[in-house]
Amino acid sequence: MKKLLAKKTLHDLAEESNHHHFKRVLGPFSLTALGIGAVIGAGIFVLTGLAAKEFAGPSLILSFVLSGIACIFVALCYAEFASMVPLAGSAYTYSYAALGEIFAWIIGWDLILEYSLASSLVAVGWSHYFIKLTELFGLHIPAWITNDYWTLSHHLKDALSQHVPYFFGIPVVFNLPAALIIVIITTLLVIGIKESARFNSIIVGIKLAVILLVIFVGWFYVKSDNWGNSFSAFAPFGIGGIGTGAAYVFFAYIGFDAVSTTAQEARNPKRDVPIGIIVSLALCTILYIAITAVLTGMIYYKDINIDAPLADAFSRYGLTKVSFFISVGAVAGLTSVLLVLLLSQSRILWAMAKDGLLSERIFAAVHPRFGTPHISTIIVGSCVALTASCFPIEEIAKLVNIGTLLAFCLVAAAVIILRVKDPHHPRAFKCPFVPVIPIMGILSCGYMMIRLELSTWLRLIAWLTAGTIIYAAYSRHHSKLAKTHALMKKQENLMTQ
Ligand code: ALA
Repeated sequence: MKKLLAKKTLHDLAEESNHHHFKRVLGPFSLTALGIGAVIGAGIFVLTGLAAKEFAGPSLILSFVLSGIACIFVALCYAEFASMVPLAGSAYTYSYAALGEIFAWIIGWDLILEYSLASSLVAVGWSHYFIKLTELFGLHIPAWITNDYWTLSHHLKDALSQHVPYFFGIPVVFNLPAALIIVIITTLLVIGIKESARFNSIIVGIKLAVILLVIFVGWFYVKSDNWGNSFSAFAPFGIGGIGTGAAYVFFAYIGFDAVSTTAQEARNPKRDVPIGIIVSLALCTILYIAITAVLTGMIYYKDINIDAPLADAFSRYGLTKVSFFISVGAVAGLTSVLLVLLLSQSRILWAMAKDGLLSERIFAAVHPRFGTPHISTIIVGSCVALTASCFPIEEIAKLVNIGTLLAFCLVAAAVIILRVKDPHHPRAFKCPFVPVIPIMGILSCGYMMIRLELSTWLRLIAWLTAGTIIYAAYSRHHSKLAKTHALMKKQENLMTQ
């Protein structure tokens, strides 16, 4: 038990941050851009439609408020940690110091859901908008290379029966554009973070321009009747619907914590990482509330399109050009989300490998010229490309959300624990009103977790069980912290003899 709960000290972590292996090139602007790049994506461009139509109606506006407030509570906790432990690895690294090795492992394993699986979902969303654009130019790509088998057999049955090639009796169906975008982003990430961050900042600019276009042009087409004239018309699924909507669109906020995973590449991590986290999250919350108000005001919630809700809303008013710009913005926006999520994933695996919980030879290898963790980036990219080409969007979203909400609860708990355990360690940024804010974070994230279905909980449990088996079979025996503790104990014994 002692071994499982072995903790790193903050002093150990400070030492580690002095031995960084990445180039320090990111300033506050790049970090905020990375945050926005990771946050605004498939959540607002794609999932909003289904959430308004089936879970919350116009009261989805309040779902975004609820989810946004929960994230702001947790973001304040992340910011405190990022300012005192400026290391790659995010929640994983923080929990190693506050909660102990087994919890750190669980969070690290859990974050694979947040980053890799979310990347798969975003890649599928990207492919849908990309195909819309090609259609605007008169190009028609066959459905069997732009969908997974499940989507084709449930939503596009005609395409399945008529056009799909068979290989030894097995239908050949996969999402090629989703896989290709992952291959392109992976290549960019292997080449280097500086190039990637610059590329990201340009795309974030395009994305923000499109979002503002939606808000300002859409506002002229809002009919207040669509919001309903009474609370029951505004919230047709009741208060519970607002909670379920929040648990579903929570995906739209995922990614602000990605800023903290690049702490070792920041020029002044103690100041700039908290700025990056808080500014990007606050900005996105305001934009989401405005967009949802415009969307549910333009189109009656039951008529909202679920594939490309924003672009479709403008087409219905005959604003084809605006619709075209939105699609371009979505393709660009989803590209930047992928970039940050995949970047963060390889950094978390790097941190875990450095601690001996994963193979150091594979996941901590840094390319001699590019200075990036190339092998890990390529492994992650391959797995994500494979998942994106074979799995549907719907269920992935819920699993990503529950996994991330769990990680957020643990981070908030870790802030309280470290304040008690190590009250004097310097904190360049302090989360205000501790323990109230972290507790509010835990309660609000916990509430969204219980709004998710039993089947989602069971999938989370299966995922965590698989992680525990790997920990027991490999990580426990290779943990560097455990080895150091064993060595120290041996020396103590020798001295007492
Ligand atoms: N928040 C990100 C998105 O909505 C993951 O795509």
